[in-house]
Amino acid sequence: MAFATQMPLFVLFLAVLISLQPSAQSAPQVPCFFIFGDSLVDPGNNNQLTTLAKVNYLPYGIDFPLGPTGRFTNGRTTADVLAIFYGNNGCAAELLGFDNYIPPSASAQGKDIIKGVNYASGGAGIRSETGQILGERITLDEQLLNHKLTISRIANLLGNHTSAKDHLGTCLYYFVIGSNDYINNYFLPQYYNTSSIYTPEEYATVLVQQYSQQLKTLYSFGARKVSVSGLGPVGCTPQELGRGTNGSACVDFMNKAVQLFNDKLKILVEELNNSFKDAKFIYSSAMDIRPSELIALVDVSIMRTKPPMILRQKPCPVRALHLFYDGFHPTDIVNKIIATTAYGDILKLSP
Ligand SMILES: *[C@@H]1O[C@H](CO)[C@@H](O)[C@H](O)[C@H]1NC(C)=O
Ligand SMILES: *[C@@H]1O[C@H](CO)[C@@H](O)[C@H](O)[C@H]1NC(C)=O
Ligand SMILES: *[C@@H]1O[C@H](CO)[C@@H](O)[C@H](O)[C@H]1NC(C)=O
Ligand SMILES: *[C@@H]1O[C@H](CO)[C@@H](O)[C@H](O)[C@H]1NC(C)=O
Repeated sequence: MAFATQMPLFVLFLAVLISLQPSAQSAPQVPCFFIFGDSLVDPGNNNQLTTLAKVNYLPYGIDFPLGPTGRFTNGRTTADVLAIFYGNNGCAAELLGFDNYIPPSASAQGKDIIKGVNYASGGAGIRSETGQILGERITLDEQLLNHKLTISRIANLLGNHTSAKDHLGTCLYYFVIGSNDYINNYFLPQYYNTSSIYTPEEYATVLVQQYSQQLKTLYSFGARKVSVSGLGPVGCTPQELGRGTNGSACVDFMNKAVQLFNDKLKILVEELNNSFKDAKFIYSSAMDIRPSELIALVDVSIMRTKPPMILRQKPCPVRALHLFYDGFHPTDIVNKIIATTAYGDILKLSP
């Protein structure tokens, strides 16, 4: 199964790389970029919260230009790479072409918010109880409320709500959320009751129904270009591999449950895309690559598989040789590969 999809992904990756023109243009490809999600794209929104899901200390951020900011990786998240992308050897192959990373909602201020805000929060989920044993987090519903506040502020900056709505319709909206609804909810039956209430199939259905309402709320706030990410194989993360795999490469029952979610989410996104004629919604499967596929991809850039870095240990000397930076979170190089694929999907949102 895993290897069957390896070639197309590889080909896509190369195709995307080739299509990236090292451009001299300085204007970004979209005027504004808003991010909703969890630790995979959190730029430090949890730093002032009381939570275990907080990483504003080394070795996190060791390869990030601004140091430890609260990003759950050694370097950039996929949202960072999408915003500004520097190729190897300083060869600038721009993705969206912003001058700066999109600011965290916790600290965004002034005119910066016109170009976008990142609302993502480690531990957050589609469901509000998700991640609660970790402590405080900004749930997706709360992220949407924060976006509503941003809209009022943008309306003040631009003069009125009509101008704000026109502006918001030109922005790109990037969603990366749902993994915690599995790893910090459904698959922790000692703390959460969802697995005693729902079968994996039913759980995927209720999650996608709730996500549907949330995406419709975003549409009602003026969003017209929306990228919705499918989930990665959570059963392949080092933390979950610790459960044992019965001889498989990954924890298969977890990946199967997540696959049910992805299948339903893809259908939802197509429905939203078809029913809201003045908007485009795309489903991106960029996160959904197996470590075995990643190893194949990064072999191209001479990268070998290594055991993951373990939380709070000393950083490995060569981070680019690792897929995971801790029990759950990919390294900068993996985020770069995922973002490059996601960018290929995002291009379909442009007319
Ligand atoms: C909103 O502001 C824009 C730009 O300042 C202006 O052109 C437009 O007439 C205003 N619209 C309303 C309804 O006030
Ligand atoms: C499940 O847990 C939630 C709290 O997270 C609670 O509100 C709900 O009543 C519980 N449901 C059942 C069937 O135990
Ligand atoms: C291993 O197999 C047993 C028996 O089929 C099953 O109960 C258990 O959940 C499996 N464990 C994992 C991690 O897949
Ligand atoms: C989204 O809808 C547009 C029409 O508005 C259509 O051209 C496009 O193919 C749709 N995309 C997907 C992925 O369904």
